[in-house]
Amino acid sequence: MRILFLVHAFNSLSQRLFVELQARGHEVSVEFDINDAVTREAVELFQPDLVLAPFLKRAIPEPVWRSRVCLVVHPGPQGDRGPSSLDRAVLEGREQWGVTVLQANAVMDGGPVWASRTFPLREAAKASLYRHEVTEAAVEAVLEAVEKFERGDFRPRPQDDLAIRERPLLRQEARAIDWLRDDTETVLRKIRSADGVPGVRDELAGRLLYLYDAHPEPVLRGRPGELLARCGEAVCRATLDGAVWIGHLRDPEGAHPFKLPAARVLGEVAQALPEAGGYPGIRYEERGEVGWLHFPFYNGAMSTEQCRALLEAYRDACRRPTRVIVLAGGGDFWSNGMHLNLIEAAESPADESWRNINALDDLAQALLETRSHLTVAALHGNAGAGGVFLARAADRVWARRGVVLSPHYKDMGNLYGSEFWTYSLPLRVGEEDARRIMERRLPMGVEEARELGLVDEVLEGRFDGFREAVQRRAEVLAADPGFPELLAEKNRRRDRDEAEKPLARYREEELERMRLNFYGFDPSYHVARYHFVHKVPKSRTPFTLALHRRPHPVERRRAG
Ligand code: COA
Repeated sequence: MRILFLVHAFNSLSQRLFVELQARGHEVSVEFDINDAVTREAVELFQPDLVLAPFLKRAIPEPVWRSRVCLVVHPGPQGDRGPSSLDRAVLEGREQWGVTVLQANAVMDGGPVWASRTFPLREAAKASLYRHEVTEAAVEAVLEAVEKFERGDFRPRPQDDLAIRERPLLRQEARAIDWLRDDTETVLRKIRSADGVPGVRDELAGRLLYLYDAHPEPVLRGRPGELLARCGEAVCRATLDGAVWIGHLRDPEGAHPFKLPAARVLGEVAQALPEAGGYPGIRYEERGEVGWLHFPFYNGAMSTEQCRALLEAYRDACRRPTRVIVLAGGGDFWSNGMHLNLIEAAESPADESWRNINALDDLAQALLETRSHLTVAALHGNAGAGGVFLARAADRVWARRGVVLSPHYKDMGNLYGSEFWTYSLPLRVGEEDARRIMERRLPMGVEEARELGLVDEVLEGRFDGFREAVQRRAEVLAADPGFPELLAEKNRRRDRDEAEKPLARYREEELERMRLNFYGFDPSYHVARYHFVHKVPKSRTPFTLALHRRPHPVERRRAG
């Protein structure tokens, strides 16, 4: 079928559905919700069999939903309506939530139901729930609805008017923290209900700031509302009955009005705080012959300092008498490459980009040059740009079923990219596919990535289930009688490759191109980064996504 996505943004859920529907042979084209006329034009041009709105903030124009079936994914159970569905579920501490696929009509979220799913609500930030539970439920429900539509015999059930509850946009007042009265659980719920967007507005150190990235602190106590400690870039604040860590802040009035590490926003106030542990950062654990390195960096962004700290932890892990090192990333993301927000906030973004890419390359190089262990990048969360190629620098890439990769840099102002991709990608997937992957700028599911060689194995399970699957698989690898030979073979191959062309040369060549991206005449990277970090709304859908807007059929075929 021809399926047109109408989206506010091509977000993680849209990317996942795009991958799933394409894998089932559907032709999927995407249009951003710019205005009604543009939407109508997209429908005219593409003539879709079905319109799907996985992530849309406005109503679909009437002429469109009258002309064909339009399915809307609502991140709430049947009967729930309104724009802040998931926010409310987190804020109210619901135990169960759901996703409904309904048909667009004159009543926003009020149309007949095609499919729905429910799931237990984990204690986590809204964005994390969206990336996992909501996405998995939405994929199941959408696939069911699409199948029913294809069969042609399904009549969707109208929603009972009385059962529908329209709930308005959740305002800041509803999540405002009262530090003198709110216990830790309440503070966590309020911040998590607004994390990633819009954050909870709060007064901190005499400034109006938005709070994100909250975690409970088990030991520290103090006067409610007081700042107690600093752990790296996170700060700890006392609640009525305990304390919470706050990792990220946004100062809407500041020179850099986007999310940054808390200590960075608070400056001297944070520097004056005593250091303590407690905020979840890099963590090493050992299970038998398997060493695990966790690095749950917020949003998968890896700053220069984080890369350096991770490299140090990695070197320590390599000194342990284990056989396999698992690089686990975080639950939500494995890595999204350089920390674009910190780069944007730097005095010289070009210099900071240079430092950041070099720190990432040091890490990738350490992985490629490891002779003592077999290394595994275990992707529970998605990876993008440099993060994908950092993963590919490990000996094995094992990914959770459902992970989506964005294995290209071009969307960030035509960045050339580094992390030794010019070495590792052709090595794993061949020259031809390497070129295609870098050019096509589309998200990729793990099945396709495995067929191409970008991923080695796809494992089942979520969170602990995935970790257990990785541990079992890693134990098998470590216990293999042929392990010494596997290691010896890897080292022989590295030596051969090094003799043919040293890693230093790959790095030099990539960085020469990156230097041009950062310091050259063409400002595309700086412009694209500014737009990304400041979340400037897109004014048109890129041709890579909007099949129906591609100028030539030949290009259409090539890119498809
Ligand atoms: N640096 C800083 N923040 C980043 C980031 C990065 N490299 N990558 C993602 N983020 C942030 C986003 O700004 C967003 O922030 P929010 O919490 O305020 O919403 C959050 O992470 C989630 O990203 P989003 O773009 O909404 O997720 P997605 O699933 O729709 O898309 C990517 C995933 C990877 C395609 C997209 O985030 C991306 O292109 N990131 C940049 C990758 C890159 O170019 N890195 C530099 C080159 S190595």
